[in-house]
Amino acid sequence: MKRILVTGGCGFIGSNFVRMALNKIKGIHITNLDALTYAGNLKNLIDFKDSANYAFVKGDIRDGKLVSTLIKDGRFDLVVNFAAESHVDRSILDPSDFISTNIAGTQTILNAAMTFQVPLFMQVSTDEVYGSLGPDGYFTEITPLAPNSPYSASKASADMLVRAYFHTYNYPTIITRCSNNYGPYQFPEKFIPLFVTNALENKPVPLYGDGKNVRDWIHVEDHCEALWTVAEKGKPGEVYNIGGNCERANVDIAREILRLVGKPDSMIQFVKDRPGHDRRYAIDNAKIIKELGCKPKWNFTDGLKSTIEWYKKNTAWWQEIKSGEYKNYYAKQYGK
Ligand code: NAD
Ligand code: DAU
Repeated sequence: MKRILVTGGCGFIGSNFVRMALNKIKGIHITNLDALTYAGNLKNLIDFKDSANYAFVKGDIRDGKLVSTLIKDGRFDLVVNFAAESHVDRSILDPSDFISTNIAGTQTILNAAMTFQVPLFMQVSTDEVYGSLGPDGYFTEITPLAPNSPYSASKASADMLVRAYFHTYNYPTIITRCSNNYGPYQFPEKFIPLFVTNALENKPVPLYGDGKNVRDWIHVEDHCEALWTVAEKGKPGEVYNIGGNCERANVDIAREILRLVGKPDSMIQFVKDRPGHDRRYAIDNAKIIKELGCKPKWNFTDGLKSTIEWYKKNTAWWQEIKSGEYKNYYAKQYGK
């Protein structure tokens, strides 16, 4: 695996993956195709700007001509498709970019990868395609898909296309479905970085509904390690769930963040719930552990502490984001 095309590498998980792969594996070359939407930031990979092992291409996965030329000339061994609209709340406000990027964009890049015979296409998907759990049970790879938001519906649609390319054309594809990530470079509209940065700014932290929704948290480095293992050892045609074995209610995380930042619980502001808010996600990751020997390494308390330290050290990174376009989105979302 020498030449890799990553899409969406200027976002949160993509940039962590590129950094990990370039630091860990000698002699690889990564091309990063990213449209630089509001969520893409060149600063996330500024340290590799002049590296001979890294190339950035500004472009859109929906642009068939650009994608075909890039893949035709690229001699890639692998495509890892991170590029997506990723925020559930934005998909509720306006699903259109979610449909075009997450579905049509995925098909465009998938088709080009098949046409120019890239040996493997990996689709970075999400546990949200499985819908919502009650108090018991876990998502396995054979749990029926039941997406509840425009975001998860668009990701489920993309998964179906990736699956269909394997079955119809015999093109080697793998789908990974991961739970909620946290860690450095996460855009501060998402729960953990929003709450950390608001707490650091002495602003209230907006908790949806009763705060008892549960997510299964995984440190982004553990997700990226798992993706690399899947790229090396995964079997085409398969789905692999990636989870953190770390279920937490939102209200407990909110309190933990405030405690670690040294702020009072009274900063929690209960706000109107997200429409269609999934109650609980929890991944059964037995398959990836058993078949590929891959387990998360971070424990949540240490991971959260080190994430908070990162946001404390990198205030310029998130303050620039929070004072830009994001501010308008936040105003629309909360009426402030
Ligand atoms: P992100 O929003 O931080 O980054 C998305 C990146 O994709 C950005 O750099 C953006 O510029 C780029 N992009 C968007 N539309 C594009 C287009 N049309 N063409 C090219 N580039 C485009 O997202 P993230 O949290 O890093 O998520 C990455 C992937 O992982 C997504 O596919 C998401 O569905 C999936 N995922 C995320 C999580 C999570 O907890 N964040 C969990 C499981 C799976
Ligand atoms: O499960 C994987 C998914 O995790 C990924 O596929 C998505 O790309 C990613 O955005 C994430 O989706 P969630 O909707 O679970 O993440 P979010 O950070 O938006 O919210 C996490 C929980 O916190 C959820 O129950 C809603 C709640 N929340 C979120 C925000 C932004 C709040 O209570 N207040 C908030 O302001």
